[in-house]
Amino acid sequence: MAGSSFISAVTKRLDGKVALITGGASGIGEITARVFAHHGAKVVIADINDALGHSVCDSLGQDTASFIHCDVTAESQIKAAAAEAISVYGKLDIMFNNAGIVDPKKSRIIDNEKVDFDRVLAVNVTGVFLGVKHAAQAMIPTRRGCIINTASMSSGVSGAASHAYTCAKHAVLGLTRNAAVELGQFGIRVNCLSPYACVTPLATKFVGLGPAELEATMDSLSNLKGLTLKAEDVANAALFLASDEARYVSGHNLFIDGGLSIVNPSFNMFQYPPEEA
Ligand SMILES: NC(=O)c1ccc[n+]([C@@H]2O[C@H](COP(=O)([O-])OP(=O)(O)OC[C@H]3O[C@@H](n4cnc5c(N)ncnc54)[C@H](O)[C@@H]3O)[C@@H](O)[C@H]2O)c1
Repeated sequence: MAGSSFISAVTKRLDGKVALITGGASGIGEITARVFAHHGAKVVIADINDALGHSVCDSLGQDTASFIHCDVTAESQIKAAAAEAISVYGKLDIMFNNAGIVDPKKSRIIDNEKVDFDRVLAVNVTGVFLGVKHAAQAMIPTRRGCIINTASMSSGVSGAASHAYTCAKHAVLGLTRNAAVELGQFGIRVNCLSPYACVTPLATKFVGLGPAELEATMDSLSNLKGLTLKAEDVANAALFLASDEARYVSGHNLFIDGGLSIVNPSFNMFQYPPEEA
């Protein structure tokens, strides 16, 4: 008996759960919606891109997924998205605060515009704050829940992205930890994901490269060779955090970077001769 319940938990790791995914119309959010649905979850996609959001929901099927237009910077819209999950599916188990943007790539701070800085902070930080707030509102009465925020390798590594983006992702980590401390008393887990770059519209836009060129650049800079990070890898990390297998994991920043963030390239003690590498 114990064996069979273990097997069913592994094959449908989110059976009976309800997830709300911001930025679920594209990239990491879209793939995560597909992975969560595959594992038995009902999914509400909240995004500003109505056409893409509806098309993802249509492909998942009306019984499994629904779309709500939601700008994460507007509190009334985040509140309505959480309410939608409860009215359509009866509850909210998993909140994935994933929507994010980048600002124009400018290497000098003196060229950065305040309006761009403010916009990145509004979506990437205020949007996550509002998502955590309204998820908590829905989850506290049930004394359980799982909140996952998308940070970035830039939550812990400097010089990889713009000032605005790096500030924002550090802030997402701080909010994740603070919320994990506050919400632990209600049985609510709060974690964040910190991926290295993977091909999505956001990443190709930021670096100004096509998908193949972006992957080649990422591979040349990576620590873990022979593999390229895909949005699916990030979705699978979200699946782990959302599942009961991570039931005691909270306040954690899960790097999905093949070890890149712990390398200091100034030191190369483990350099193999080319014929052995
Ligand atoms: N792709 C990467 O290399 C990478 C690496 C690390 C972290 N991230 C983070 O992953 C998250 C998802 O990014 P992605 O790469 O999948 O990008 P993406 O552009 O493919 O998807 C982002 C989604 O967010 C939506 N969105 C943007 N502004 C919104 C708003 N105000 N309200 C609601 N939805 C909004 C977009 O419409 C889009 O569907 C972001 O937080 C990003 O910072 C991405």
